[in-house]
Amino acid sequence: MKDAVYDEFIDRLRSECDIVSILSEYVPLKKKGKNYWGCCPFHHENTPSFSVTTDKGFFYCFGCQSGGNVFNFLMKIENISFFDAVKILARKMNIPLPQKEKTEQELIREREINKLYRANEMARDFFYACLTKTAYGKQAKEYLQGRGITNEIIESFKIGFAPPAWDKLGQAFLGRGVEQGTLLKSGLAVERSSGDGVYDRFRNRIMFPICDARGRVAGFGGRVVDDSQPKYLNSPETPVFNKRNILFGFDTAHKFIKECGQAIVVEGYMDVITAHAFGIKNVVGSLGTAFSPEQAKMLLRNAEEILFAYDSDAAGQNATLRALSILRNMGANIRVILIPDGKDPDEFIRKHGAEEFKVLIKEAIDFLDYQIKQAFESIDHSNLEGKVAIVSKIVPVLAEANNAVEVNAHIARVSQSLAIDESAIRSEVRKFLFNSKKDKNVNVGKNISNLVVVNTPSIATEQAERHLIRLMCEDKSLISYIQTNLSIEEIQGEHRCEIIKLIFNEYNMGKDTADITWTMLLSEAANAELSRIMLIDIQYDDSIKMVDDCIKSMRLTQLKVLYEQHRLRADELERMGDSRFLQELAESQRINNEINKLHYL
Ligand code: GTP
Ligand code: MN
Repeated sequence: MKDAVYDEFIDRLRSECDIVSILSEYVPLKKKGKNYWGCCPFHHENTPSFSVTTDKGFFYCFGCQSGGNVFNFLMKIENISFFDAVKILARKMNIPLPQKEKTEQELIREREINKLYRANEMARDFFYACLTKTAYGKQAKEYLQGRGITNEIIESFKIGFAPPAWDKLGQAFLGRGVEQGTLLKSGLAVERSSGDGVYDRFRNRIMFPICDARGRVAGFGGRVVDDSQPKYLNSPETPVFNKRNILFGFDTAHKFIKECGQAIVVEGYMDVITAHAFGIKNVVGSLGTAFSPEQAKMLLRNAEEILFAYDSDAAGQNATLRALSILRNMGANIRVILIPDGKDPDEFIRKHGAEEFKVLIKEAIDFLDYQIKQAFESIDHSNLEGKVAIVSKIVPVLAEANNAVEVNAHIARVSQSLAIDESAIRSEVRKFLFNSKKDKNVNVGKNISNLVVVNTPSIATEQAERHLIRLMCEDKSLISYIQTNLSIEEIQGEHRCEIIKLIFNEYNMGKDTADITWTMLLSEAANAELSRIMLIDIQYDDSIKMVDDCIKSMRLTQLKVLYEQHRLRADELERMGDSRFLQELAESQRINNEINKLHYL
């Protein structure tokens, strides 16, 4: 992308392509006024809220807030990378790709990676043939049949079997020209401690190929057929198998996840396989390892909601709590599916069927509820000690939640269940926030106000920031004026901040911001926001006055928030008998004066 030739090429694609005709291949669009409208392909809807502007080349959905340019559209709908979107668009437009010289190092690495994928693919076919076509696989096949795994499931997941021998795979592969180094690097073989030759890592195991998002075989999981240990053996980390970035079943599940806007995460291979076999196809497996932020992002690119259906044993409960703590701040809707009587999803679905499991999905509980329920179940709260233990477990959860209404409802319920005064819990939450401020220097005022007053996002600020961005896009001579009069820290919206920073940057580097290539550098969410901004109808006579008004409105709102925060801190400190409340009070008065001054400006 740094490459000028490439930049130019991308801009050419963007400017020459007819966004309406490209998007029409996926969404029927109708012209209404200046823009085109259709039903959004990224969420279910019956009335069109998906719009496309031809002159700016953006789409935006007022229903699900997805938006961007033609590349973002292709990336999202085809679930592909930016580079693949460029390739596809070029193909659709019949424009050949510019040939970029690869460095020697890039070529070597690419060849290495291809060798690993190739070896994995050969191994998948080898294990599959062993299971389905040879006598070695007989016992394993019976085992699988006994667990309800039909031939169709074996075929669709390409389940296989590693023979009970030390070097069947190794010998066969060496004979077919696979280098020993590749066998080792892929994790299919292990070096003998004598240093002399290699042996097969997977022996006498049922083999589950693990694919990456694009369906390439990245690694394997192997399960014993009896009670020996370890029950599962997985491929080690390799250049193509990074467990943080892989979810079992994602390669087939992602389109179903996108379709229903919901992803279900389970622990085991068998849970994924059984769910899919029973027609519940938006299911992926985190494979026993801790759920990672990368995995969360993979899912959140396709769905707004993630449901966890881990085993209901203690290990599964702990894994759920750990996953929730990772997702807490990622802005996702998270729920937990509760599986009755200590079963895992595999057992439950086989015993009760898909419909019953769908009922569990419907009844899945919010993650806050889950954490509170967990605390109540794991601690005996019949005595005071237990009550205190529960409160101290729940307080951090409540303090970190960002929906004040919900938090208040929970506080009320917890206080009732424990027969403790509501205000006592509230004060514990405040104390926790206060202490974490001392520890981590976080902004406690913000969180306290969250609990006490419902935090309303300022619509005025949002609008002012949007207008500023739009103005800079329309008239680049305003960029330097805005840069002098506004500091980046004053921008509240995270995505708008990203956009404005980038505009300033591009402008300062002497790039032409009218040439919209710079938007490629934005994150998906910021791009969506920018597209939305391009759709606003703005009218003004005097652009400088408009800029001034926007900035003034932002400052006023910000000062009001600050005022509120200091006032609340003052209250808080006074209640705790801390004399620093006087300082806070003085500060809030100072801010109030500033607000008054700005009003009369
Ligand atoms: P079944 O017993 O065949 O139903 O397997 P399961 O998928 O229900 O396994 P279980 O609930 O015991 O464990 C969940 C997941 O954790 C498995 O699918 C594996 O990914 C992983 N796991 C379990 N045991 C081991 C082990 O011994 N080693 C490793 N590396 N992973 C394991
Ligand atoms: Mn199981």
